[in-house]
Amino acid sequence: MVAIGGLALIKLGGSIATFKEKPLTFNSDGVKSISRVLKGVVDASGIPIILVHGGGSFGHYYSVMYDMHSKPAGYSREGISRVRCSMIDLNSRIVSVMLDEGLRPYTLHPSSFIMEAKKVIDSRVRELYEVSKHGLIPVTHGDVMHYQDDLYYILSGDEIMSILAEHLRDRVMVALFTLSLDGVYKDMQSRELIKELRYASDAKMDDVGMDVTGGMRRKVREGLRIASLGIDVWFVNGNHPERIADVLKGNDTIGTVIRGSRGEESRGEDRRV
Ligand code: IPE
Repeated sequence: MVAIGGLALIKLGGSIATFKEKPLTFNSDGVKSISRVLKGVVDASGIPIILVHGGGSFGHYYSVMYDMHSKPAGYSREGISRVRCSMIDLNSRIVSVMLDEGLRPYTLHPSSFIMEAKKVIDSRVRELYEVSKHGLIPVTHGDVMHYQDDLYYILSGDEIMSILAEHLRDRVMVALFTLSLDGVYKDMQSRELIKELRYASDAKMDDVGMDVTGGMRRKVREGLRIASLGIDVWFVNGNHPERIADVLKGNDTIGTVIRGSRGEESRGEDRRV
């Protein structure tokens, strides 16, 4: 197996780790199949991985219930507690499955590298990379974060992907988002898959269901941001974990890719959502 060099950032979408329509329901089999595939890749190539998971029917369930968003505000105290508690619960279920499948996950909550007022501590992000080099898979996740004073905000796993890519840009070879769709579609009616996405305008996202952190639009925006750092970004269906293996081996697969384009930032607004 020929694996691409460098670090892989993998987003385990909430729609894969949980059953999004059923409150607080963990998709144990889904996480198990992905863990098996990752174990195969790690054993064969030793590729360092950092895993970020979303909220699905855990964190999103409570953030919708308590009307909490990515904008810092004085949200319900009960809501803040419940979102945090549900994310810790989901995280512990995910890492338990990974551990059972022979992986060595190591949770680092986002509050270990993102401080007050959303200040990202570079050395703490680098710690995730250090951990990933020595046989462990750092696992972090979307969460409700303290902003300042009595203000809190929802931080999506997608945004964490961008933060990690930015701070580890010299190390990351690929960023991969797992979804419950085959990739990004031109529009939801035709479900025509975009094999290579170059501009935000390639996809019509008005019809895609939004959640508190912005759904597909947010993912594409973060994907374009990461690609502008020179990193290839893939969106693949997590219900077909072999596609994850394809990407990690540097092969083509069914999905949507945004090719890394360092220096093309000057193309300006076109690449942004
Ligand atoms: C959501 O993270 C985090 C919370 C709601 C606390 P994401 O926005 O990345 O979650 P998914 O992957 O879309 O479910």
